[in-house]
Amino acid sequence: MFVTFEGCEGVGKSTQLKLLRDYLERTGQDAVYVREPGSTDISEQIRSIILDPKNRDMTPETEALLYAAARAQLVSSVIRPALDAGRTVICDRYIDSSVAYQGYARGLGREAVERVNAFAMRTAMPDVTVFIDLRPSAAFRSVSRNDRLEMEALAFHDKVYEGYLAQAAASAGRFVLVRPEKDRADTHRKIVAALRERGAIK
Ligand code: TYD
Repeated sequence: MFVTFEGCEGVGKSTQLKLLRDYLERTGQDAVYVREPGSTDISEQIRSIILDPKNRDMTPETEALLYAAARAQLVSSVIRPALDAGRTVICDRYIDSSVAYQGYARGLGREAVERVNAFAMRTAMPDVTVFIDLRPSAAFRSVSRNDRLEMEALAFHDKVYEGYLAQAAASAGRFVLVRPEKDRADTHRKIVAALRERGAIK
């Protein structure tokens, strides 16, 4: 099973990924954990170009291609081999981040981004995508604004959120929308229940 986590910045995605990993380790369930962009030497180098605050002039097309390049490397060297070996893969951000950020918020359009990514991902589409469903204006206060993308205006992040909602509606069978609870343990329980229901974990 290939499981991805998505959400806007500052919604507690990393915390939930950590809680899920603790749960899977505690219950003796094997999985491979990766994050995007990154998780291979080459993808991490691409990540530092994308997120470098000096690269303010980067065009949306360049950005989309760099995310796709980082993804192509990760798919070929980690995700595809792990899935072929029957292992579960849990990835922090994936194709839906590109559709939401580059497609909707940067304005490249969903179709262009999906076309580039079809080449990058080949057949590695997620089976289940957990979307932490919180509007950025509700989450923004807790975000540390130290990289280029986090410095973008709130309007940009609201477009990202709208992009995610559109993507979730278009791929309803794959998406699980999880509204974060006040208590992160409650959010964690909702995620575990949803993933168990879909047979992604035990
Ligand atoms: P990161 O610090 O890993 O963000 P987070 O902790 O919120 O996951 O930085 C990744 C940034 O890259 C984040 O702002 C989302 C963005 N991104 C895209 O714009 N397109 C993509 O395809 C991916 C994978 C990430």
